[in-house]
Amino acid sequence: MAKQFKILMVEDEPAHVELVRRAFEKHTERFELAVVSSLKEAKQYLSACRPDLVLVDLFLPDGMGSDLLPGEAAGALYPVVVMTSYGDEKAAVEAMKAGALDYIAKSEVTLRDMPHLATQVLREWRHITERRKAEASLAEEKERLAVTLRSIGDAVITTDVEGRISLINRVAEQLTGWRQEEALGEPLERVFNTINEHTRECCDNPVTKVLETGGIVGLANNTVLVSKDGTERVIEDSGAPILDQQKGTIGVVLVFRDATEKRRLQDERQKVQKLESIGILAGGIAHDFNNSLTAIIGNISLAKFYANPGDQILEKLEEIERAAMRTKNLTQQLLTFSKGGKPIKEIVSIAELLKEASIFALRGSNVRCTFDLPKDLWPVSIDAGQISQVISNIIINAEQSMPAGGVIEVKTQNVEISSPARIPSKSGKYVKISIRDQGIGIPRDHLTRIFDPYFTTKQKGSGIGLTVAYSIVDRHNGYITAESEGEGSTFHMYLPAAEMAISELSSRPSKLMHGVGKVLLMDDEHIIRKVGSEMLQLLGYEVVCARDGTEAVELYRLAQEKGHAFEAVILDLTIPGGMGGEEAVSKILSLDPTAAVIVSSGYSNDQVIAEYRHYGAFSSTLTTMAFDHSSWRCFGACFCNDQSGQNDIILKRYLEARNRFQSGANVI
Ligand SMILES: Nc1ncnc2c1ncn2[C@@H]1O[C@H](COP(=O)(O)OP(=O)(O)OP(=O)(O)O)[C@@H](O)[C@H]1O
Ligand SMILES: [Mg+2]
Repeated sequence: MAKQFKILMVEDEPAHVELVRRAFEKHTERFELAVVSSLKEAKQYLSACRPDLVLVDLFLPDGMGSDLLPGEAAGALYPVVVMTSYGDEKAAVEAMKAGALDYIAKSEVTLRDMPHLATQVLREWRHITERRKAEASLAEEKERLAVTLRSIGDAVITTDVEGRISLINRVAEQLTGWRQEEALGEPLERVFNTINEHTRECCDNPVTKVLETGGIVGLANNTVLVSKDGTERVIEDSGAPILDQQKGTIGVVLVFRDATEKRRLQDERQKVQKLESIGILAGGIAHDFNNSLTAIIGNISLAKFYANPGDQILEKLEEIERAAMRTKNLTQQLLTFSKGGKPIKEIVSIAELLKEASIFALRGSNVRCTFDLPKDLWPVSIDAGQISQVISNIIINAEQSMPAGGVIEVKTQNVEISSPARIPSKSGKYVKISIRDQGIGIPRDHLTRIFDPYFTTKQKGSGIGLTVAYSIVDRHNGYITAESEGEGSTFHMYLPAAEMAISELSSRPSKLMHGVGKVLLMDDEHIIRKVGSEMLQLLGYEVVCARDGTEAVELYRLAQEKGHAFEAVILDLTIPGGMGGEEAVSKILSLDPTAAVIVSSGYSNDQVIAEYRHYGAFSSTLTTMAFDHSSWRCFGACFCNDQSGQNDIILKRYLEARNRFQSGANVI
């Protein structure tokens, strides 16, 4: 059954009511007519029910019929048709403006024809409401799309086929620096101003490219977007055509994002990878490199020994020696950083080391150092090579901060940290080293970043100097910090004081102890065997050499059988293709549990070397580094009359170790 429409007629003229009522009586199956005669009644009716159509006379006894008009027609719930008397057209037009759907001039004919008019008005109303609904849902969809596009994480710009901007979302606004109101209708290339990062030439207009290819185009690498205020950002982007239902192109959509941070990370990763690969390479050649250096430095020390005091050649030899040491430091810097080498600690007084490293770092410079180094400084347990590197890195920075020259003050003091809050290290005793320059200073916002890898403000800086320093000090359970207020900068380094009593340290021998007895020296390198034996022989020892572990064990066994066991065994840790020190030491100890074995290796960051004591068997270490550094200092220093009084004498240490080893203590 078809719907019956409710019609409200508001009319005070009984004759008109009668005409209309009669007209509708013939259509009761379609229409139900209600009639009221005043505005008040009409309002009451409307508050109680909702008609499908209202027919209202414009002039009512208690007011104007236009009071019933919906005002904003868009929100109307039902159509209103105004009925006017002849000559009231003007008022009728006003009523239309106020939201009436139609008006009729009342006459007998029009009133009688009212059902027909109602049918037409209702049909029209249906069309209007349908269109409104469609418009509303379209608007809703548009709004949703706009909100989505505005809030999307990527930047989006759409253009028409002419390349004029029709939409720009919030991220695109931020990246281009153009607000939506300014950008709409502008040619794309004004707003989306891109250049090639390297050539700095303008990039092709992506709209043209998309229109040419008709498909999605990824835009060139190294595209930099220049925003309105000149900010440059590396971007990644793509463009695609916007197609209508007939697959015709009606515009282009560009999607892009800021890739500056991603690029920075990528660059950083590349740097790290580069450094790692250099590290691997350096680690690989370190062994050979050290062997060569050992031979050079060892032979220099021998040459110095053979030279007569006061010989001119001594000076030359010392120069060569310094150059060789510099080369060693260079390798060490690389190795420490790339492999995170564990420190091989020995107990030393920091004062000498500070002087040596600072003066060495400042050679040939117009900057000089003053030292304030109290005599009663606690000894520290450090890897001398690594800490020298830290000092040298800090001193070099200080020097570089004073291009016109100046003074660097180096100060040390004993400090006891009771509250860990003062420095982020454990409470306890520390030796605090302060290095102060009069240079350009460090801005506050840089202070937190100077220890970061690759942070540099220098044209030719690599930004790893302080990173290396930090990681070394950290591995020593120490702490390093910097301050800079006004003029100059000060670096403070805290190193844990060694537990060993100072008396014990100072009682150490500082003179070369000649000895007697047989020493077994195992190394795969001929040159090491040669220099090593010559040095040991000079100390008074008889030397037997072995090329690898198997030979060493066999020689040890034979000597034992003959009742002439070795006083000491020096084993190289790594023997390519043969038995190395780690295996050999356990074999030798199973033959002779009292054997005193010293491990030697070119790889200072080898686990066994760093923790030789935990490897039970070894009673001391002698790295190839030791040959050129510690032991060089001991052998060489003895030959040239050791000045520092701190140098270890490997074999003396060995003999001490052996005594202790035999009395049950497996450490030295
Ligand atoms: N004494 C100092 N005075 C002023 N600035 C300093 C000082 N020491 C460090 N800096 C700042 O810290 C940055 C990082 O120092 P770092 O030693 O790590 O790297 P670098 O000196 O730039 O390069 P390199 O790797 O060659 O040492 C320096 O670029 C500089 O800006
Ligand atoms: Mg530096």
